[in-house]
Amino acid sequence: LPKSYLKKLVSKDLPKVFKPRRRDSHKGKSGKVTVIGGDKGMSGAVRLASEASLRSGAGLVTVVSRPEHQLVICATRPELMFWGCELVDMEVYLKLGWADVLVIGPGLGMADWGYNLLKAVDLADKPCVIDADALNLLSQFPLTGKSWVLTPHPGEAARLLGVSIAEIEQDRFNAVRRLHTKYGGVIVLKGAGTLIYDGEKCIVAPVGNPGLASGGFGDVLSGIIGALMAQGYDNMQAACLAVVIHGDAADLAAKEGERGMLASDLMPYIHQLVN
Ligand code: APR
Ligand code: MG
Repeated sequence: LPKSYLKKLVSKDLPKVFKPRRRDSHKGKSGKVTVIGGDKGMSGAVRLASEASLRSGAGLVTVVSRPEHQLVICATRPELMFWGCELVDMEVYLKLGWADVLVIGPGLGMADWGYNLLKAVDLADKPCVIDADALNLLSQFPLTGKSWVLTPHPGEAARLLGVSIAEIEQDRFNAVRRLHTKYGGVIVLKGAGTLIYDGEKCIVAPVGNPGLASGGFGDVLSGIIGALMAQGYDNMQAACLAVVIHGDAADLAAKEGERGMLASDLMPYIHQLVN
């Protein structure tokens, strides 16, 4: 890539983006996010992504997951709404219509349940964040995305391009460009030195720390991106801001130590950073 393509993004470069909320703001106008995922045994992933959306300022957040996950999700975060989905039918399409932004993938699984939900998201034709197993499904069943942000880690990126992880890591700039050529949208190629590419600009975000290398942190990132999109940031801005907020929150949480840091530990810091 030509040098002019690249820009390093660090937190201090961020403009003062988060203005105080208007005195007359109300929840319906702060952005509605629906987080879809959590097949059997994977409720934690949607629980993390949806709380991250709330902590990033979304006005209303609904979780669509397996009915048996309602109790654990709503009892531990009562601000969330929940819609239990056993069969993916017409009602699902109506439910998806409510949201400004859809986040699909955390804990989605790769069985029929997850695949049908991904098709429903495709038909709903809304701005969306495609993460985790939704990316793995996408690599097998191509969809024509319009306004989407894809958030692959190197393993998911390898599946999306049908190459090895080593090939992705050898030349991450080339990988992010190829992902964009194949899938469009905004690509967030995660890992130490996340790359964000929209077909014009490629942003390098050297944020975060190795404490992030444990389960659940990716789910938190997709929730933040969705919430910022729902609050009116364009897909590229939302992706860039979210990566920096996520990394900075991780640095604040790592004051207690990188080892043993949990994805949930980011929540209070995300709250701080969006104000
Ligand atoms: N330095 C900086 N950032 C890092 C580092 C590091 N060393 N390691 C990880 N991160 C960041 C990534 O950039 C990304 O934002 O932490 C996040 C990790 O996200 P994922 O790799 O998606 O991990 P996560 O989703 O939490 O857990 C893995 O989910 O995607 C599925 O197949 C995956 O089941 C697995 C699980
Ligand atoms: Mg992940």
